[in-house]
Amino acid sequence: MTKSEVITKLLPKRRAWPQAAATAFAPANIALCKYWGKRDAELNLPTAASLSISLGRLGSEVTLAPRAGHDRFTLNGKLLAPESSFARRAAAFLDLFRPAREFCFEVTATNTIPTAAGLASSASGFAALTLALNELLGWRLERRQLSILARLGSGSACRSLFEGFVEWHAGEKANGMDSFAEPLAARWPDLRVGLVVLSDKEKPIGSRDAMAQTRDTSPLYAVWPETVTRDLVALKEAIRRRDFTRFGEVAEGNALAMHATMLAARPSILYCLPETIEAIHSVHALRAEGCEVYFTMDAGPNLKLLFRKPDLRSIVKGFPEVRVVSPFAT
Ligand code: PMV
Repeated sequence: MTKSEVITKLLPKRRAWPQAAATAFAPANIALCKYWGKRDAELNLPTAASLSISLGRLGSEVTLAPRAGHDRFTLNGKLLAPESSFARRAAAFLDLFRPAREFCFEVTATNTIPTAAGLASSASGFAALTLALNELLGWRLERRQLSILARLGSGSACRSLFEGFVEWHAGEKANGMDSFAEPLAARWPDLRVGLVVLSDKEKPIGSRDAMAQTRDTSPLYAVWPETVTRDLVALKEAIRRRDFTRFGEVAEGNALAMHATMLAARPSILYCLPETIEAIHSVHALRAEGCEVYFTMDAGPNLKLLFRKPDLRSIVKGFPEVRVVSPFAT
């Protein structure tokens, strides 16, 4: 099944009268139980479910307007070359939805997180783009359907349509209509996420290629889907019981299992920098001193700390550069 076939199913009658402009925001999300492996690379259908936390006001804002001639992309105030990676990926996504072949877009995006530094800016970017398209082109789709469309841009984008804890159902259907994200009802007001940016350089290998290489060559990949399935159940249970120790242990263990699986790929995929390892040791040292902090990390060298409000002071002492997010602040 192709992306266009999925879109025709969700948008059978497309209106040809766009609004003058539309702006939308979507939060970044950090996976606590990771998505790493596709059962369908065209539709970004995952091998297993995943669970994330959205980062409140940290994310992407996208404004779309119709434009004559050709698409134009501005990111964080800078006009982008059409061959830049952001412009190419966004243009390929927009191609799926143009009301007419010659229809072009003015795209203005602002990220409040470093682009391509493993802080999931592509997830918030595609989610905001999807929401802005929904407005601009008058689709009036529900969030669940928008989650399916955002997934076509980047898998983890389907989770950025929602606030708080979000589960992405793996689904079983070949057309992916049952593979969308959904928020959990649970809130955890004193939970904090600390962003420790150790490098904002572009990553050495993108998640799409890295996932395929892991699946095809890592001897550890065979046990990865069952690890995820077990960790997801444990995390949901820990969230329900507000069992922070269990929550942190499972999230940290899941991230390390993902990185171990990639590390065993041939050739090996190593996102950690020396600074990453040093920061991991600092987390462990803080924990040994009684500050309950855990970490997770994605396809990049940066750490995301998980802790609770009463430990804020110790965290800031241990990581003076940390950017603290309160995912459940109203
Ligand atoms: O959606 P992608 O292709 O950017 O992949 C995201 C992969 C991880 O961030 C490492 C894990 C996840 O679940 O977000």
